[in-house]
Amino acid sequence: MSTNTTDNQRKVTTSRLLDMKRRNEKIAMLTAYDYSMAKLIDQAGMDVILIGDSASNVMAGNATTLPMTLDQMIYHAQCVVRGTNRALVVADLPFGSYQGNPMVALESAVRMLKESGAEAVKIEGGSEIRESIERILSAGIPVMGHLGLTPQSINKFGTYGVRAKEDAEAEKLINDAKMLEELGCFAVVLEKIPAALAAKVTAALSIPTIGIGAGSGCDGQVLVMHDMLGINEGFSPKFLRRYADLAPVIDSAVKNYIKDVKDGDFPNANEQY
Ligand code: KIV
Repeated sequence: MSTNTTDNQRKVTTSRLLDMKRRNEKIAMLTAYDYSMAKLIDQAGMDVILIGDSASNVMAGNATTLPMTLDQMIYHAQCVVRGTNRALVVADLPFGSYQGNPMVALESAVRMLKESGAEAVKIEGGSEIRESIERILSAGIPVMGHLGLTPQSINKFGTYGVRAKEDAEAEKLINDAKMLEELGCFAVVLEKIPAALAAKVTAALSIPTIGIGAGSGCDGQVLVMHDMLGINEGFSPKFLRRYADLAPVIDSAVKNYIKDVKDGDFPNANEQY
């Protein structure tokens, strides 16, 4: 479905995403963690920019998302917000900042919005975090859910494999998705689940589903920026489409710079004062 110029410039809001689902217009979401990349992604016309706690992997070099702190997520969100005009900005609440205690969850979400300027938070889980979701929503803070492979629970799952292949887990996921909608979440990420299940959930909900490794039946798609730009070379799951191959481009540019410096070729007469 095509959109006109006015639509392309108009600020994306949570209600606009609901409208996009109703009109069958797919939602594009991508992660960003810093000002410069957020600016480029926003100017390109992205609908939603997610400050993912995947920052832990691609920015900080950790093996999991668990070490990320709320202060670190707020810092990344502040940088992204400064570079964004049009996209809806959603920030992940990190591991340990919302599970277990609804008041802690509320405080974390309030800090995120107040200190960074992000417009919504994303949190992982279903019925286990029901009270936290309710408490955050009660403060007027929009919540995006996240079901399926929820990386903050990697120590429970043991692998990053496809989730909800078995009936019992699939049924719980459907019930959790319906609960998220009933509570008032504005969207839900479905990560690494069978495409048929994601399509079923999408058809059952009036709020948009945003898939990653969940097939084409979702209302939108999300990828991690470093993965789709080919910066994160070692990571190539089946669901990932690479839209650029930047690692060799960067490697070659850096090697050329080193060579020019060593050879005394840089800077030349035109590159000095
Ligand atoms: O942290 C992240 O980048 C995410 C996306 C993969 C959905 O949660």
